[in-house]
Amino acid sequence: MRSNALNAAGVCLLAGLASLPFLVHPTKLVQAATTWVPAYAANGDMLPPSNYREWVYLTSGIDMSYSPKAEMAGQSVFDNVFVNPESYRSFLATGTWPDKTVMVLEVRGARSKGSINQRGHFQDVGVMGIEVHVKDEAHFPGKWAFFEFDSLVKNGALVPAGAPCYTCHSAHAAVDTTFVQFYPTLLPIAQAKKRLSEAYQKDEAEGSAEK
Ligand code: HEC
Repeated sequence: MRSNALNAAGVCLLAGLASLPFLVHPTKLVQAATTWVPAYAANGDMLPPSNYREWVYLTSGIDMSYSPKAEMAGQSVFDNVFVNPESYRSFLATGTWPDKTVMVLEVRGARSKGSINQRGHFQDVGVMGIEVHVKDEAHFPGKWAFFEFDSLVKNGALVPAGAPCYTCHSAHAAVDTTFVQFYPTLLPIAQAKKRLSEAYQKDEAEGSAEK
């Protein structure tokens, strides 16, 4: 449960951040829009990363089978993954993620009938859910944490340590608990810089042994 006072504080802070550069440095507005550092309310909730649609796009998955929600709803869904631009640039140089990395997974329904479309799927306008994976070494004992958002106007709730999110990501993700094996612009860099996790390499070795 969140108190109204906390929500009000979150909204005020964001409104302040958005309007300040415009008033003080009108020419820097475009640059300011891509920068976002993780920030939290007093109860531990995360403030929404409102401008993630201006970040770097990593991939879209459709009906990836790890999402039990999609199967239950009986509906096809896309997931789109974004990362903050500063961390993307750092990944290109190092093959792994720096502190303060924020990754957003956005879920949208898949539609097939609309306009001139005859076959295949396209993405619905409405967002069904937003999940965030954040690396904040000073803030979380496990370095990374997950948050779930209902919308971009409300703060997101921390997923408690020990939840399946953490188990699956640390057991199978290719780089630093993130699923770089599904992000086509990043996998070759992680490979070249030898940043692939032992867990992922083990999965791959077992997979190729079965073939
Ligand atoms: C069974 C495995 C599994 C579980 C459980 C799981 N995920 Fe993931 N997660 C994935 C895979 C696979 C991807 C890659 C998605 C893609 O390629 O589109 C992913 C990607 C993500 C991303 C994008 C950033 C990254 O780390 O690569 C976020 C954010 C995320 N998941 C949040 C969550 C949250 C929150 C939960 C728990 C509520 C969760 N995940 C549970 C497998 C899992």
